[in-house]
Amino acid sequence: MKHQSHLLHAALIMDGNGRWATARGLARPAGHRAGVETVRRIVEAAPKLGIGTLTLYAFSSDNWKRPWTEVAALMDLLRRYLFTELPKLKREGVRLHIIGRRDRLPGAVRAAIARAEWETRGGETLTLRIAVDYSARDALCRAAGQLGADPTRPAFTDALAEAMHSPTAPDVDLLIRTGGEQRLSDFLLWECAYAELVFTSTLWPDLTAADLGDAVADFRRRDRRFGGLSGDGSTLSQPIIQTQST
Ligand code: IPE
Ligand code: IPE
Ligand code: MG
Repeated sequence: MKHQSHLLHAALIMDGNGRWATARGLARPAGHRAGVETVRRIVEAAPKLGIGTLTLYAFSSDNWKRPWTEVAALMDLLRRYLFTELPKLKREGVRLHIIGRRDRLPGAVRAAIARAEWETRGGETLTLRIAVDYSARDALCRAAGQLGADPTRPAFTDALAEAMHSPTAPDVDLLIRTGGEQRLSDFLLWECAYAELVFTSTLWPDLTAADLGDAVADFRRRDRRFGGLSGDGSTLSQPIIQTQST
């Protein structure tokens, strides 16, 4: 079977919490709270499905436009998640990184991030990246500004990681968006160059481990060619000889 030896990088746009709550006559933050349960399920299921890196889109830089009550609820949920999940993340060998800007986050959230990143630094089973105050275009601009006179793809990828305050991660293999919209909303624009895309109308709080398994199974049936031809080996990984962008 294809891709079996390769640990996947799956990136998830966790969308649909607000609609989930509204459909039940609840306030939007109730949907975000239910969404945290889904995060727990998905993080637990990911390593069993061959996922080595999981990037979750939790709060975009454009989400600051929402009412402050919703923003405050989201920040508080993140802080609490990092606090309550820490022992489990450590036990399960999860290494956590937050990607995105940190300077606009509340101090208590920044402190929770620093602690969780430090305490999970030895995790080897799963790299969990949570995107907070994240904008791919802002990250690309910052990386471009840091790049020296030799703008190769690997150098740019490293500059991008630095711009997001996190170690370099592999390209995204599988991108999943819940909630029915079919767009990227400024998420991992560079890293998704050859990602396989899966869009599902299931709302994030309703997503199950089995749904994630189905998406991975769908991914494994796809023929990734990276611009080459089927069956010439290029379906297994990125090509060894990379064309330079310069
Ligand atoms: C995704 O759910 C979570 C965040 C963007 C923080 P939404 O809050 O966007 O839910 P919908 O799209 O309004 O249903
Ligand atoms: C994308 O969802 C951001 C996150 C899931 C964190 P949005 O709900 O903010 O995206 P749009 O506004 O529908 O594009
Ligand atoms: Mg949304």
